[in-house]
Formats: sequence, structure tokens, C-alpha cells
Amino acid sequence: MREQWSSKTGFVLAAAGSAVGLGNLWKFPYTVGMNGGGAYVALYLLFVLLIGMPLMLAAITFGRKTQLSVFGAYKSISRRWAFVGALAVICGFFILAFYSTVGGWVLYYLQAALRGQLNTIDPAHLEAVFSQLLASPIQLICYQFIFLLITLVIVLGGIRKGIEKASKLMMPALFLLLIIIAVRSLTLEGSMEGIRFLFTPDFSKITPDLAMYAMGQVFFSLSIGMGVMITYGSYLDKKVNLVQSAVMIPLLDTAVALIAALATIPAVFSFGFEAGEGPGMMFITLPAVFASMPFGQVFVILFFVLVLFAALTSSISMLEVAISYFVDEKKFQRKSSAILISIAIFIMGIPASLSLVAKNQLFSIGSLSIFDLYDKLTSNILLTTGAFLLSIFIGWVLKPENAIQEIEASGIHFRLAKVWSALIKYIVPVGVLIILIQSYQEFISALLR
Ligand code: PHE
Repeated sequence: MREQWSSKTGFVLAAAGSAVGLGNLWKFPYTVGMNGGGAYVALYLLFVLLIGMPLMLAAITFGRKTQLSVFGAYKSISRRWAFVGALAVICGFFILAFYSTVGGWVLYYLQAALRGQLNTIDPAHLEAVFSQLLASPIQLICYQFIFLLITLVIVLGGIRKGIEKASKLMMPALFLLLIIIAVRSLTLEGSMEGIRFLFTPDFSKITPDLAMYAMGQVFFSLSIGMGVMITYGSYLDKKVNLVQSAVMIPLLDTAVALIAALATIPAVFSFGFEAGEGPGMMFITLPAVFASMPFGQVFVILFFVLVLFAALTSSISMLEVAISYFVDEKKFQRKSSAILISIAIFIMGIPASLSLVAKNQLFSIGSLSIFDLYDKLTSNILLTTGAFLLSIFIGWVLKPENAIQEIEASGIHFRLAKVWSALIKYIVPVGVLIILIQSYQEFISALLR
């Protein structure tokens, strides 16, 4: 008998903890900025609804049905599909390799906040803080190391449940603080321009590339396509209403992403930062918002603590996928596999961190820095491929009827069963495949440029 979540909230907290992370707080706002705002946001929302939610339901249902983590889950139904599980494990390595770079930045900013170094609204100063960090290889690597170490300690220390319980407090706190920042940001002079940027979609801006980035971001943000939700679903007991969870988690995740964008983008316009700033946006812009509000210097510390927490509940979910593969399939010991995996990820992560040091030629392939390479390889290639294969698998191998039976095993009547079947059999795979073809073309040409 497998260990199960002590309650439904245990699962929702862990799954939401995996979903809500740097993807929402750091990546969503800056990709909105880089991709011109409204049209990207509109596509993002559309994809969450039509593709993210149906896949979320597919993943947790599949996990609960098989009671296995991702590799075993595929293998138990069809040996030929086991490779999808392997793909998921590889994807986890690559995501965590650059996720830990950004996790390191959060740690650096936390200590900078504690030392009162972020107390200014001067764009030039805040940009300098960020570029100094990027110019310091030793600091980058040290903080990245510490982030991975904390992740490892949580996973090994048996304090994971504690962390998940703590997220009962930390998540609402993060939510509340984001709302406070958003309110401040929205009351800054000139913030209306940011609102317009976010919510007036210019549909003529929709290109295949824009759709590709929006979809990759949906999978990244929802932790879909690399088996996290399958693995987490496998710990669920039969009483839990899967449909409700599959709606709640994406809703919560999307709300956090939108509020993070509302906290950041209006301030970008108001203070005169760059909308196309890129990965530094959160780190450069939000300190200015804090500096312009009462108790800002307390809030900024609290903010980076909460961001760190959100990042850790995501990074442990990635590490967990890889560990469970080596433990279940290769009969490795949990402790040694956790340590070895973390070391491998750290080694893979070093070039990701260094590739941002003054556009280092040594650490780029084609037109992509290693950091960008890992990012695009995961969001646009591996997660998107994983999501495509998941929909084909559930729609055509496991078959929606069997999934629906599992869903209704908790005693509910799944009213949208027909709609969901049609989505998972036709709409999702076709939609994702179109994007996937675009992604492969783009990725290969970026490597060759
Ligand atoms: N969803 C996480 C975030 O938004 C990142 C993640 C992706 C976690 C894939 C697990 C798997 O930060």
C-alpha cells in the first residue's frame, strides 16, 4: 500500500506548490513584457482553459489510476510508452539546472534586501545591482549551489511534509503580499499604460512564435508535461474529486501569474523601466515598488522569503520526479540517488549561470546562451512534447472511458465527460502538435544561427 496524502488539501497544496513558483512570479511578467503584452496574455488564458485544464485532469487521473510515478505509470499500461517517462526525467534535470540559477538570484536578493541595499526607486541603480550580480561568476555559482542544497535537504530531511504544511500559511501570505504590491503598483502615476499593455490584446500581433511561447509558458507554469502531476496524483486516495482539483490548481496558478504581472508591469511603465527587459524584470522593478511604499523595506524582505519558498516547493517537485525514477526503476537508494542527481544538476547548471556573464561566447550554442537553451529546450520542446504525448496516450491508448471511470470512482458524476473526451482526443493533441512543429523548427534554427 502506497503512502497517501493525509487529506485532499495535502495534495492540492503540494500540487499547487509545484505549479506556483518562479514561472508565475518571475517568468510570466517578463515574458509578457518581451512578447508585447495583451495578445500574449489572451493566448495564455485561452491555452490554460482549453489545453492546460484538460491535461491537468488527464495527468492526475492517470497517476491515481496507476498509483505509480511517471515512468512506471506509462510502463504499466504499455512498455512502448515507457520512454515518455524517461523524457520526463531528463526534462526535470534541464529545468532544475536553470531554475536553480534563478533560485540563486532570489537568495542573493534576499540578502541584499536584508542589508537594505534595494531601497531606491532609481532605475539606474537597480539595474546596476542586477548586472553586478550577473557579472560575478563566483556569487552566481555559490547562490545556485545553496539553492540546490536547500532543495536537497528538504527532500532528504523528511521535512517535505512540513514544508507542504507550511505552504498552507506561506501561499496565502504570498497571495496577499502580491495583491498589496499590485495595488501599490496600480496607484503609481502612469500605471494605466501598464494596464492597457496587459489587457488590450492587439490580435494582429498573434504569430506562430507568440503562440509557441504562450503555450510553453502554460506547461511550465502548470508543471505539466514532465510527470509531476502524474506522480503527485498517484498519492491520491479514491475519494478525492479529481475534476475539482484539476480546475482549482490551474485557476490558482493563473491568478498568481496575473497578479504578479499586475504588480510588475504597471510599475515598469511608471518608473520608466524597459518592458522588454527580460529575465531581470522582477528583480529590477519590484524593489522600486517597495521603495515607494510605507514599510517597503520590511515587505521587500518578506517578498523574497515568500518567492524563495514558492521556488522551493517547485524545485522539490522536479527533484522528486528524478529520484522516484532511480528508486523505483533502478533500485537505487533514495539518499544516494538524491545526492547524485543534485550534483549532476549542479554541474549542468554552472554553464547556465555563467552563460549570462556578459554574453559569454564560450557558453552559448548558435544564437542561444546555455540559459536560454535550457529554457527553450524544456518549455518549448520537452514539456510540449510531453504534453502532446500525454494527450495521445490518454486519448488513444488508455482511452477516455477508462479515465472517466477512474474520475467517477470518487462517486461524482462527471458532467463534462463528453467535452473532456473530445478535447483530450482531438483538440489538445492537434493544437499542441501544430505548436510543436513550430517549436522544433524554431529551436533548430536558433541552434544553427
Ligand atoms: N511550475 C513551476 C513554476 O511555475 C515550474 C515547474 C515546471 C515545476 C515543471 C515542475 C515541473 O515555477
